[in-house]
Amino acid sequence: MHREAILHDGALVEAHARGLPCLANRKQRGKPGPVPIDRPAPHQAGPRTCQVPGYLREVYAWAYLTPAFARMLDRQPVVEAILWGNARRLIARVVSEMQPGWRVLQPAAVYGTFSRQLAAVLGPNGSLMVSDIAPLQVELARDKLADLPQARADLCDAAEPARGPYDAVTCFFLLHEVPEDMKTRIVQALLGVVRPGGKVVFVDYHRPHPAHPLRPVMQLVFAWLEPFARTLWTRSVADYARSLTTQFDWRKETVFGGLYQIVVATRREA
Ligand SMILES: C[S@@+](CC[C@H](N)C(=O)[O-])C[C@H]1O[C@@H](n2cnc3c(N)ncnc32)[C@H](O)[C@@H]1O
Repeated sequence: MHREAILHDGALVEAHARGLPCLANRKQRGKPGPVPIDRPAPHQAGPRTCQVPGYLREVYAWAYLTPAFARMLDRQPVVEAILWGNARRLIARVVSEMQPGWRVLQPAAVYGTFSRQLAAVLGPNGSLMVSDIAPLQVELARDKLADLPQARADLCDAAEPARGPYDAVTCFFLLHEVPEDMKTRIVQALLGVVRPGGKVVFVDYHRPHPAHPLRPVMQLVFAWLEPFARTLWTRSVADYARSLTTQFDWRKETVFGGLYQIVVATRREA
């Protein structure tokens, strides 16, 4: 059993011991406490287990599993700085793909105001399901979304999302933080939960123009902090979809000298 899970979620320890799947919990109101684990309703069943994976513990514990540091990072100016001033523009692109009333999955927590902005555009008749594999991140997301009844946050692996169908899924800077096999599993799983006509919006790093002034800086950042990011400079998101590729129409746009990509995969109508 992983120590972080024990520290943040006693109920999770018990759930793991009993081999229960991770699941969609009821929305928690007010100040969030430990992330509870319930038995899923049959229509929500999907994930098998929900342990914090090795790559997250080994590479990103400082950023996502350490309460004091995570709370410090979970601010919009920090996100804006990490994305070289592009956060607002990238979030606006995601939001522009959404419609009021839609049922949307955000399969990994994002620091700052991303989820609140998403929930706001979906409105009171829509629903936003934020999930994350780290109990601490679920707590932070619940805290941020507590006053928005259309939004909830639950513990779940993005590679085994709660069953859809969703109108849309937004995968915001998750792929560059997971190993190659997980990229494939996550892309395929997310494509698998959108309805015909629905879309998955991927926003992530991309190979910048050879003369981009930040190219050497990003190479250093990737070498030092982001060991799984560099493959997004050579592989397309559609590559990871493998046999599912042809079931979707793919749109891709790059911004900021090619450093970031927005890829929209729309499921073809039957
Ligand atoms: C969306 S990514 C990076 C976002 C960006 N750095 C930010 O927060 O502004 C970070 C999140 O992905 C989560 N994560 C990593 N692997 C995951 C997985 N397999 N399933 C769900 N969440 C995952 C981490 O726990 C973390 O909260």
